[in-house]
Amino acid sequence: MPNLQAHLPGTLDPTDWDAFRIQGHRMLDDMFHYLEHIRDQPVWRPMPESVRADFRQPLPIEGAELSDIHQEFLQRILPYSNGNVHPGFTGWVHGGGSAAGMLAEMLAAGLNPNLGGRDHAPIEVERQVVEWMRELFGFPGTASGLFVTGTSMANLIAVLIARDAVLGFEVRRGGVAASALRLTAYASTAAHASVRRALDFCGLGSDALRLVSVDAGHRINLGALRHMIQTDRATGYLPFLIVGAAGTVDTGAIDDLDSLAVIAGEEGAWFHVDGAYGALGVLAPEIAPRLSGIGAADSLAFDFHKWGQVPYDAGFLLVRDGELHRKAFQSPAAYLERETRGLAAGAVWPCDLGPDLSRGFRALKTWFTLKVYGLKALGETIARTCELARYLEARVRESSELELLAGASLNIVCFRFRAPDPDRVNARIVIEVQESGLAAPSSTRIDGELAIRAAITNHRTSRADIDVLVEATLEAGRRLTAGVQDAELEASLHD
Ligand SMILES: Cc1ncc(COP(=O)(O)O)c(C=O)c1O
Repeated sequence: MPNLQAHLPGTLDPTDWDAFRIQGHRMLDDMFHYLEHIRDQPVWRPMPESVRADFRQPLPIEGAELSDIHQEFLQRILPYSNGNVHPGFTGWVHGGGSAAGMLAEMLAAGLNPNLGGRDHAPIEVERQVVEWMRELFGFPGTASGLFVTGTSMANLIAVLIARDAVLGFEVRRGGVAASALRLTAYASTAAHASVRRALDFCGLGSDALRLVSVDAGHRINLGALRHMIQTDRATGYLPFLIVGAAGTVDTGAIDDLDSLAVIAGEEGAWFHVDGAYGALGVLAPEIAPRLSGIGAADSLAFDFHKWGQVPYDAGFLLVRDGELHRKAFQSPAAYLERETRGLAAGAVWPCDLGPDLSRGFRALKTWFTLKVYGLKALGETIARTCELARYLEARVRESSELELLAGASLNIVCFRFRAPDPDRVNARIVIEVQESGLAAPSSTRIDGELAIRAAITNHRTSRADIDVLVEATLEAGRRLTAGVQDAELEASLHD
């Protein structure tokens, strides 16, 4: 048995690269096997307490064999992961990742570049993706782009730029308290919580976000928006930001982005689009027309790790006016001096466009994914997930035991099992279906009613997986309500 733990004196590199290579290939093969046979696994399984307890070990002062740690990974981590790689996973909005993306992630870790800045090829890879996204979304050549963790961070950065654009960049030194202006922002009641949090984090307070009612299709009510803006103006507020949704988190509704762009223009407000997963719908010809207003946005936040199938994490922000973006974040420091030649050349650096100085190579797994699969296949995947959502909607409609709460606007369907105490029964169904390992939906509330929510985002999902979800829901619902009168049901649900 080779001693892989041994490393060259003074470094952490192995003394025996050949043995290390064999072990590395074994680890790679294991992950290929995992992906190839993912359907043989439960979607998700609860972690036994004994396994959880294994993560309460003392600090590892002395090292151990790589192969031993790998065995620990295989036994304690791999079987108890999130489940979103599995085609039966429809919870929240989770992409499935891809084999090519996984390999690219390994290459990125091997190169280990810091994408905060400087002059090297990895930065050019990020710039290439920025350029592609400008083209894809119809943004001008002067637009800037940045990889971030996810849309929550991208929304925050966009709100900060919008705030600085209206208050002036002096606010970065003086703070918002120094301004007499009372700013208000607008998004629909269906907006993701990260928008509200962004207002909170940027010092304006979450109350500055006005939540506008939605229409029957869960899209922002334009009349109500105009009315709220006028009321706020009349009472001394300054409307500075309108946030449109390209795919709401609960139902996949797409706001009327064209009209929002017009209203924002009339009001002199910043127009931000939260396109966390929906924005990449532009890759599917049948969805793209509904997203036409995106090109008019001042900023667009979206994730490659959702519909783009790039392994976590890979959020992205596009900003129409790259100069405003830079002014909102650039912060000179002697140790970050820029040069025209040498390693410190190549301004603007990504650290000038966001809060992070050290940044990983998210761009590489995205670049690989886009190049290996191509936009056409990714678009087909997106269209297929929407087709599967329509199939799920049809299955729900044809069952007298199920009730549709929100149909398939994009790839999300919300439904429930008909029961005397529907909220409690359906919450329990979601848990039981997850624990069965057969499927993994999540839940939300539609008009106050608890819904089983399936967001079909994974490229591996097929009709058979949708059938399993429906059957597992029916089985759990029937079991939980079988012959049970209201009082008994109450008791059984408290078990
Ligand atoms: C519409 C919307 N906005 C924002 C987010 C947050 O994205 P992230 O989890 O990448 O931060 C999500 C997540 O699902 C979302 O659906």
